[in-house]
Amino acid sequence: MSRRPRPRGAAAGSPKRRVATESAAIDVIIDSLGARGDGLARLGDAPLYVAGALPGERVSVRPGARRGDGRVGRLEAVLEASADRVAPPCPLAHPGGCGGCTLQHLAPAAVQTEKRRLVATALTRAGLDPALVAAPLAVPPGRRQRASLSGKRIGKGVVLGFQAAASHDVIAVGHCPALHPDLDRLLGPLAELLAGLTTFRAGGVRLQRANPGPEVLIDLAAPPDLKARQELAAFAETQRLGRLAVNSPEGLEPVADHAPWIELGGVPVGLPPGSFLQPSAEGAALLGGLAVAALAPLDGRLADLFAGLGTLTLPLAAAGRAVHAVEAEAAPLKALAGAAGRAGLAVTTEARDLFRRPLAGAELAGLAGLVFDPPRAGALAQAEALAEAARRPLRLLAVSCNPATLARDLARLVDGGHRVRTVLPIDQFPWTAHVEAMAIVDQAPGLPLPDLERFRN
Ligand SMILES: C[S@@+](CC[C@H](N)C(=O)[O-])C[C@H]1O[C@@H](n2cnc3c(N)ncnc32)[C@H](O)[C@@H]1O
Repeated sequence: MSRRPRPRGAAAGSPKRRVATESAAIDVIIDSLGARGDGLARLGDAPLYVAGALPGERVSVRPGARRGDGRVGRLEAVLEASADRVAPPCPLAHPGGCGGCTLQHLAPAAVQTEKRRLVATALTRAGLDPALVAAPLAVPPGRRQRASLSGKRIGKGVVLGFQAAASHDVIAVGHCPALHPDLDRLLGPLAELLAGLTTFRAGGVRLQRANPGPEVLIDLAAPPDLKARQELAAFAETQRLGRLAVNSPEGLEPVADHAPWIELGGVPVGLPPGSFLQPSAEGAALLGGLAVAALAPLDGRLADLFAGLGTLTLPLAAAGRAVHAVEAEAAPLKALAGAAGRAGLAVTTEARDLFRRPLAGAELAGLAGLVFDPPRAGALAQAEALAEAARRPLRLLAVSCNPATLARDLARLVDGGHRVRTVLPIDQFPWTAHVEAMAIVDQAPGLPLPDLERFRN
């Protein structure tokens, strides 16, 4: 079977410079999928990254610009297609199209297999046993509760959407099947709003789902004048937003604010502007439920490090646990403390930079269990402090959206005498190569594992 991808979707940006650097088309066999969802082939000794190609496929490719230790190849045609190739559900998901989803052309079951393999490969590279990786849990598509869009003025209109893969071009997205309908419905009206704002040239628009309505943060080159402010406020009312704020060189300024809030573990929490949310409410609930189940066998105080708004703290506290929540940012920590206080939960909070000052010594000795969910850079300093501690929590839960840094941190824990029991991939990012994972790491032998089947639907 032969398939030639046809470019569709309106791209805003300069014509590609790749023509100058591209070589003649060659036929290659794709060996595997890379961490960004590209098909990987070999070009001599170097990797060739081919967006849109799948493992096992024979494809015609034009090798182009350098990327890291290899080159990017532009897919010309699929000469022999994988049995796992499917028609992408979104018409914008094609090479050169919207870069938001990179794996819509791969059957969902095969996506799960690939995500399990990506986590297993990261473990292998860190010297850990890849067999520790369990079958993934998955959140269905259409549930994304946060989105970072790019907008660009073209004449009198504004193109609003996601960037094309490996490009600064913006692809107009009027409907996105990956987004929760509460956010998807805003795409068209937002592009119209921005077109009417003379101070909007180019910039980001961030959306988060909340109650009583979504939060919208818009980058502007200058603070809005009175007319623009009125238009923004009217938009917030018409679209029933929970908050609309503009981000200009003078700072973040709410134009309309109805004190948006979300629910974590059944506990209402105020949403400070631009807070971190898990990609989906379903994923957040999965992580919270897993943390409650995995830490249930332990008696005593728990800690949630890199706690954010309390995605893990609040379900644990609502299940009757005493939790110490540590986080660098003041705003989410204050919201978490307020939410726990109103609900009468046993939560203490601490503002602290855990990269510079990880929990150590006596602080760790007093804990029965500990959860950490760091940014993509990982939690190496904390893993080292745990590895070196004389008395440690009996069980650790390590959560991460970066398999490489998760594996690195787990390897450090194992060097210090901890034992990784299982690593569970959680697919919160359908149609992409991104994957979240939760590792259960024990100090004491014989602790029961949670029944993961209970979390599969
Ligand atoms: C991936 S988010 C997880 C947040 C929360 N656990 C959740 O699931 O919603 C990582 C969190 O780490 C916080 N963070 C980043 N760097 C930090 C540091 N050096 N020390 C403490 N917290 C940090 C961020 O503010 C963010 O809230």
